Amino acid sequence: MLILGIESSCDDAAAAVIETATAGIAEVRSSTVANQDDIHRAYGGIVPELASRNHVITITAVIERALAGAGCALGDIEGIAVTRGPGLVGSLLVGLMCAKGLAQGTGLPMVGVNHIEGHLLAPLLEHRIAMPYLALVVSGGHTALFAVEDFGRYRRLGRTRDDAAGEAFDKVAKLMGLGYPGGRVIDEMSRKGNRKRVRIPRAQVKGAPLDFSFSGVKTAVATLLATADGRAELPEDLAASFQEAVVDMLVKPTVAAARELGADTIALTGGVAANSRLRVRLAEAAAAEGRRLVAPALKYCTDNAAMIALAGSYRLLRGERDELTIDAEANLAL
Ligand code: KG4
Ligand code: ZN
Repeated sequence: MLILGIESSCDDAAAAVIETATAGIAEVRSSTVANQDDIHRAYGGIVPELASRNHVITITAVIERALAGAGCALGDIEGIAVTRGPGLVGSLLVGLMCAKGLAQGTGLPMVGVNHIEGHLLAPLLEHRIAMPYLALVVSGGHTALFAVEDFGRYRRLGRTRDDAAGEAFDKVAKLMGLGYPGGRVIDEMSRKGNRKRVRIPRAQVKGAPLDFSFSGVKTAVATLLATADGRAELPEDLAASFQEAVVDMLVKPTVAAARELGADTIALTGGVAANSRLRVRLAEAAAAEGRRLVAPALKYCTDNAAMIALAGSYRLLRGERDELTIDAEANLAL
């Protein structure tokens, strides 16, 4: 089955074509993303109104590029999967309306997909992983641990109580005057820094060992930068020390959750999965307990439509379809 995936939940407009015959096993024929970082950079964060307006401008071309990249025409497509939430409602609406229009015009079945389900299943685009597996979704908007028990069966084991980890990277980068988005810059700077140089307290959520909290580390950096001593630290050392604190706070609950679930595989996904230190530390921690870390290629960690197509595919393969009356839902629960 050839499936067209469409994703526009935040600031990336993406389309992809996958080919699949069995749930969870797919070949990505094409995956295209129109990134808006250059538009939002001047504001130090995503401006929802600008995100949706730009989706309107780019989405058709993105879909056409995905079809051309897959070497096929709309007439070859057999099903459409589109993100319907969670995300920015204006952004979601652009992709969803586009998918509905295509479905209405062609008669193709369409299914609405939960964006988080896309992230949870993204590791399957490149790897065979036995279920249940543990997934750490860590991005600018989300930080959570899920047991992936089956297609459509996910159990949340832990979540952030405040900021997402990527949000902490972005906010600290902003405090340090490093621009937006800041995760990649901090990651690169940290390679030249001493991660033990600056003391950053690690936060744990009392009574909830699988939950996360990142607002404290952000405040710690802000407080430090308000002092002359703090400002005298080398930015590389500060970046590396902050990053190490975030990584510690991600690794500990993840390992504990894998142990609790008895999962052989830990899958790492979301934009922060690009972090080089997190990949190394989590791989080491997993290996120390005889578990395997699977981290998808960067293009499948960040927002993309191949993961949305995959997350919609098991329903389309069963012959299911959603009514064209489904709505975009900013807070759609998994
Ligand atoms: O998944 P994503 O592309 O968008 C959503 O938030 O859904 O993730 C973007 C987030 C941003 O917060 C960005 O700063 C962070 O991922 N990020 C990183 C790295 N690359 C991107 N954080 C830490 N280290 C990186 N190398
Ligand atoms: Zn995402």
